[in-house]
Amino acid sequence: MLLEGKVAIVTGAGSGIGAESARRFAAEGAAVVCADIRLARAEETAQAIVAAGGRATAVEVDVRRAADNEAMVNAAVQHFGGLHVAFFNAGTIRPGNAVKLSEDDWDVVMDTNVKSIFLGAKYAVPVIADSGGGAIINTASVSGLRGDPAGIVYGASKAAVINLTRCLATDHARQGIRVNCICPGAIETPPVQRMLADPAAAEATGRSHLLGRIGRPSEIAAAAVWLASDESSFITGEALVVDGGLTSRAALVNMGDPRPRKD
Ligand SMILES: NC(=O)c1ccc[n+]([C@@H]2O[C@H](COP(=O)([O-])OP(=O)(O)OC[C@H]3O[C@@H](n4cnc5c(N)ncnc54)[C@H](O)[C@@H]3O)[C@@H](O)[C@H]2O)c1
Repeated sequence: MLLEGKVAIVTGAGSGIGAESARRFAAEGAAVVCADIRLARAEETAQAIVAAGGRATAVEVDVRRAADNEAMVNAAVQHFGGLHVAFFNAGTIRPGNAVKLSEDDWDVVMDTNVKSIFLGAKYAVPVIADSGGGAIINTASVSGLRGDPAGIVYGASKAAVINLTRCLATDHARQGIRVNCICPGAIETPPVQRMLADPAAAEATGRSHLLGRIGRPSEIAAAAVWLASDESSFITGEALVVDGGLTSRAALVNMGDPRPRKD
């Protein structure tokens, strides 16, 4: 039970990585505020936790809105008496290069992926500090480390998450708050299943990861639990890559033996 006695918030808890992480946090002993813009989906996650013997509540939150972030943190205090862990995971993606992407899509992605973490931290930090310290985990992406084709705003937003993580870690270490982010490779969640509907694309994407497949939400949830727990007590400001080796392999082909030939 890595999170016994802890209170946690998970945003994007209605689906994919967030839903799996909320369930895993609860299984490790945390009381969980399941936050999502789709309340019915957050409620499904909370109900599954309660049915399994855990503690959870669901809240409707648009992470782009300051008032919703404040209400989300208040829900943790009202229901469970404090806050120790915030997993700011909700995110969205819009395809497009600079010519094709609309200004509205740029704003939606930057607000959902980046501004949300600023607003979440604004309200969560004082409460986590008052609760005796804890951990913030943000979901970044390998797309914040490399240039994806036709993905300018998603890549820019996730690079921003990585350095926002370092800035938050710098500002709040003395309050007993560690701040880290996770950079997943391709993970089998509903949006990725839609993007990889073509079997050839799914096969090629799987092969691009050294382990020969895309990841499972549970494999990101395991990293999030670890970063939330005291097992990672000396780690802060870090971007943990969980990508099955996707970013480890260089694009160079095997070029053969470099030694001069004898003949
Ligand atoms: N799946 C992947 O391959 C992958 C890879 C790298 C990073 N990520 C990141 O992981 C996170 C979770 O993605 P996922 O793949 O589980 O997607 P998902 O669509 O399964 O889950 C995202 C959840 O966030 C919620 N959400 C979206 N906008 C919101 C808002 N404004 N306010 C509150 N909730 C909102 C959605 O309703 C949804 O339930 C995102 O930050 C995503 O960018 C995913």
